[in-house]
Amino acid sequence: MIKERVLSGMQASGRLHLGNLVGALQNWVKLQDKYDCYYFIADWHALTTGYENPSALHDSVNDLLVNFLATGLDPEKCTIFIQSRIPEHAELHLLLSMITPVGWLERVPTYKEKQQELKDRDLSSYGFLGYPLLQTADIIMYRASYVPVGVDQVPHLEISREIARRFNHLYGEVFPEPEALLTEFPKVPGVDGRKMSKSYGNAIYLSDTPKEVEHKLRTMITDPARIRRTDAGNPDLSPVFQLHRIFSTKEEQDEVAEGCRTAAIGCIDCKKVLIKNVFKVLEPVWERRERLMNNPGELKEIISTGTEKARKIAGETMTRVRAAMGLY
Ligand code: TRP
Repeated sequence: MIKERVLSGMQASGRLHLGNLVGALQNWVKLQDKYDCYYFIADWHALTTGYENPSALHDSVNDLLVNFLATGLDPEKCTIFIQSRIPEHAELHLLLSMITPVGWLERVPTYKEKQQELKDRDLSSYGFLGYPLLQTADIIMYRASYVPVGVDQVPHLEISREIARRFNHLYGEVFPEPEALLTEFPKVPGVDGRKMSKSYGNAIYLSDTPKEVEHKLRTMITDPARIRRTDAGNPDLSPVFQLHRIFSTKEEQDEVAEGCRTAAIGCIDCKKVLIKNVFKVLEPVWERRERLMNNPGELKEIISTGTEKARKIAGETMTRVRAAMGLY
C-alpha cells in the first residue's frame, strides 16, 4: 500500500524548546509511522528576518537537525533535509512569483504582525514579503496530501492553496491543493507564565543541561497569590500546573492540585514532581543528543541521504512545471 505524503518544515531561527517539542516534534514523530513524511529545516525562511546574522543561522540549523533526530525522527522512516540544499525551491519560488499578486502577500496577517513584533529590524524587503510564497513552493513541490502545522500557520496554508489553484488554472493540473493537518496541543507556558517563546527569554531548551532545566523549573512562577507556604493556592492560576497537565499523569495532577488548594504541599514539592516527569521526557533526548554530537559523520550522512531523496521529487516536479509553463 502506498502511504500518503506528509510534509512539514521548521524555520531555523533559534534553538528548539519544550514548546516546539510538544507542539510539533512529538506529532511529527507519530506521523512517521503512518505516512511518507518529509521534514525539513527552513533556513532560507530564517534569512527573511535574520539576514544580518549568518552565524546564528548556522547554529540554529545544527540545533534543529540534532534535535529532530534526538526527539525521535527516524531517518529510516522519514526523509529529513535542508531547504537551501534543494535549489529547486528557489526556482519554483521565482516561477510562482510571476503569477502571485503582491496584494495577496500583503494581506497575509503575519506580514504586518511580524513587522510590528520585530520593530528593531528592517523588514521592508522583497524576501520578507515573499515569505508565504517561499513556503508555498516548499509545500507544493512535494505534492503532499497533508501539512501538519499549528494554527498560526493556517493563513500560510490558505495562500498556498490559492496559489496552487491559480497555477493549475493557468497551466493545467500540476499541483494538488495541500491540506493542513491541524496540530491541537495545549498551550505551553514559559517559566514566567507567558507563552513559551525564545523572544520572551522564558524557554526551556532541548539543548539545556539537566541542571539548567531543573533550575528553570524550580524558579518558575506559580500562583502569584500564594505567598507563604501556609497560603492555599489555586492551581488554575499556576503555570507550573499547566505544565503538569502536559507532563504528569492524571493521578499526579489530582494530587498536586489538591495539595496546592489545601496548602498540604508547598510549591517546591509540586515542582519536584514536574521536574521528575519533564526529565523522563528529556532523558532519552539528552542521550541521543550526546551520541549524535560525538558523531558528526552520521549527521552529514543523514542529511545527504535525505536531500538526495527529496531532490529527486523536486526534480520531477520542476520538469512538469517547466513543461507546463512553456520553458525548455
Ligand atoms: N513557516 C514555518 C514556521 O514558522 C516554516 C515553514 C517553511 C514551513 N516552509 C514550510 C512549514 C512548509 C510547513 C510547510 O516554522
